[in-house]
Order: sequence, then C-alpha cells, then structure tokens
Amino acid sequence: MKIGVPKEHVSGECRVASTPEVTKKLVSKGFAVLVEDGAGIGSHYSNAAYEEAGATIVDKETAFSSDIVVKVRKPTVEEVNLMREEATGIGFIESCEDDDVHQTIFTRNISYMAMEQVPRISRAQPMDALSSQSNIAGYRAVLEAAVHYGRFVPLMMTSAGSAKPARIVILGVGVAGLQAIATARRLGGDVFAYDVRPEVNEQIRSLGAKPIELDIGESGSGEGGYAKELSEEAKQKQQHLLAEELKKAHVIISTALIPCRPAPTLITEDVVNNMRDGSVIVDLAAANGGNCPLTKADEVIVHDGKIIIGHTNYPSMIAADASAFYARNIANLIEIMVDKTDDELVMKNFAEDEITETALVKAS
Ligand code: NAI
Repeated sequence: MKIGVPKEHVSGECRVASTPEVTKKLVSKGFAVLVEDGAGIGSHYSNAAYEEAGATIVDKETAFSSDIVVKVRKPTVEEVNLMREEATGIGFIESCEDDDVHQTIFTRNISYMAMEQVPRISRAQPMDALSSQSNIAGYRAVLEAAVHYGRFVPLMMTSAGSAKPARIVILGVGVAGLQAIATARRLGGDVFAYDVRPEVNEQIRSLGAKPIELDIGESGSGEGGYAKELSEEAKQKQQHLLAEELKKAHVIISTALIPCRPAPTLITEDVVNNMRDGSVIVDLAAANGGNCPLTKADEVIVHDGKIIIGHTNYPSMIAADASAFYARNIANLIEIMVDKTDDELVMKNFAEDEITETALVKAS
C-alpha cells in the first residue's frame, strides 16, 4: 500500500504531513512511502533524510497517485483530480462548508479523513491534530507578543532601575489558551485568563494564573468540552464586564472560538483605544473574523498606538516540530484505518470505528 506525501503549496505553509521519523515507522509496517521532491524543505527535512528512512523521492503526480495521500492543508480541486478514484486522503479540509473541493471528492469516490473532525475523545487523543497544532499556536503567539511588546515581560530589577511585569490576559482557555498561559507564566508575566466555561478556572489556577470571573447570567458550557453560543443579552454583558479587565492589560492573547461559528467579539474598539500605547493584541481567531473587530487576517497593524497581530498560521512558524507532531497524529490515524492480513495491508471499513466514521468527510 502506497502513501504519498505531496509538498504543500499554500503560500507560507512550511509544514509537511510526514517526517523522516514517521516515514521510517510507516516503512517498517509495510507501507511504501512516496515523498514529493522537496516536500520537507520548509520543515528542515531533506530528501536525503527521507531516503535514509526508506522513502522514495517522486514527482507531484506520482505522490498524488498513491493509495493514501497525506496532506496538511486542504487540497485544491486540481490536487483532488490527481488522486486515484477510490483512494484515501487525510488532512485538514476546512469541513465547515461544502465547496468544489468537497464535491470533487464525492464525485471521484475518494474517502477523505478530515483531521479537524477527529472527535476529541480520549482514545483519539494521539490523532488529535487540532490540539497538537493549537498547542504550538498558543506557545508561538506569546513569543510573537513578547517580541512586539516594547517592554520587558518579567519583573526586572537592575542597577538602572526596575521594570514591572507585563499584565497578560488570555481569552479562551482551550488548548491554545492553556499553552499561552503556561508560556506567558514561564516568561514571567502577570497572567489573567477568562473563558466562558467556568470549569476551566481550576486549570487556570493550576498554571499559576488568575481566573477572571464574570457574572454574565448564563453558563457558556456546551457539549463535548466546547462552549455554546451565548444569548445576545449575555454577549453584551460579557463585552461590557470584560472591557474593564482588558483596558488594564498590556498584552492580550485571544483564542475564543466555537467550531464553525464566527469568532465572538470580546475586544471592542473602545477597549483598544483605552489600552496603554505599545500594548499588544495577538488575535488567534483572525482566520474566523477575529475576537477583535480591528484585526486583519495575516497582517500586523498599529491602531491608535496599539499593535494588533492577526497571523493565521503560527504552527508553520515552528514547522519542524509542528510537522513532527502532525505526522505522528496522521500515522496514529493510519494505524486504525488499515489491517494486516496474511502479510497484506487492507483498508478497514471506516464506518466500523467511531473515530474514522466521524472524521470521514460526508456530503451534507
Ligand atoms: P478550543 O476549542 O480548544 O478553545 C477555544 C476556547 O474558547 C474554548 O475553551 C471555549 O470555551 C472558549 N470560548 C468560546 N467562546 C467564548 C467566549 N464568547 N468567551 C470566552 N471564551 C470563549 O480551540 P483551540 O484549539 O484552543 O483554538 C483556539 C483558537 O485558535 C481557534 O480560533 C483556532 O482556530 C485558533 N488557532 C489559530 C492558529 C493560528 O495560527 N492563528 C493555529 C491554531 C489554532
């Protein structure tokens, strides 16, 4: 059974869906791994390293003609058309809305596993690429803030005087938010955090940060550990009460999102105008409209002396490790998709496992 690893062609994407380490593991299990020439370059994995791991370096067409094609980003229609009918694809596919890519997948009878649809259940944790990548994003976002902040993050006491620690507020305490708290604490910031799900307050405290507790008249806890959409009245109350906390912040890292919904507005223009000059907002929800209406996706802007950062691909900025984690997620998924019988690898029935059944892209 052949696994193809094409080079990612989305602008600025440095990750790759298999690393030499994972390739070696797949080869030892009996797969033939076909890596597109230069696929690993952005993540600092050379062709030679893949060949040493047992892969064959091929052209784009050959990589896409494999039995299983593993990708990071959503394929284009052209890429799906390069895949064999009835082949299997694995990767992020932005499954919230159907478009030409989805239609091409269905008409060509391709089974596509959407990594963002892997359920967040305990057995699926080793395959949870949303979490592995958000964890990296939370870490990288804090570094980005620290670099743009024209002051020290930790308390500094020197012979030239002292500097106070930065007051850092994290909004949304899911995977990215928790890692942002841990990283901001390691840098010595004075860290506060808010989530609409009150059950995370214990986790905030356990990381040495202080929870911001607001009485907005309802709980935002939804199903499966996700938040639920708030009523209009609660949204207004939340914005109003949060504003007082946010105006005091020097750095805000915002990660609040409900999957497949536009990001909630938590940082209003009035809040930004009232922050100290030189303050930094890193809006991780930029790709979904942002938690701040001033955020511009993939841009760094200065509004009234405040810096607002809207990068949408932090994992690609730590591409070697992001690829390593992602490739392990993919290999763990392949492990439950394929059976070995009489020394032959055969694809299982995806409907028989909750993980593959949920991840499989279906016509809506
Ligand atoms: P998650 O689902 O684990 O966490 C989101 C958190 O936001 C949850 O704890 C939820 O309760 C909270 N939340 C939702 N609505 C809220 C509200 N109105 N007020 C306060 N909290 C609210 O998601 P994860 O994996 O941590 O990702 C967070 C964000 O980061 C997402 O927007 C994701 O798309 C983005 N992301 C961005 C990247 C980038 O490079 N810019 C890379 C990876 C993730």
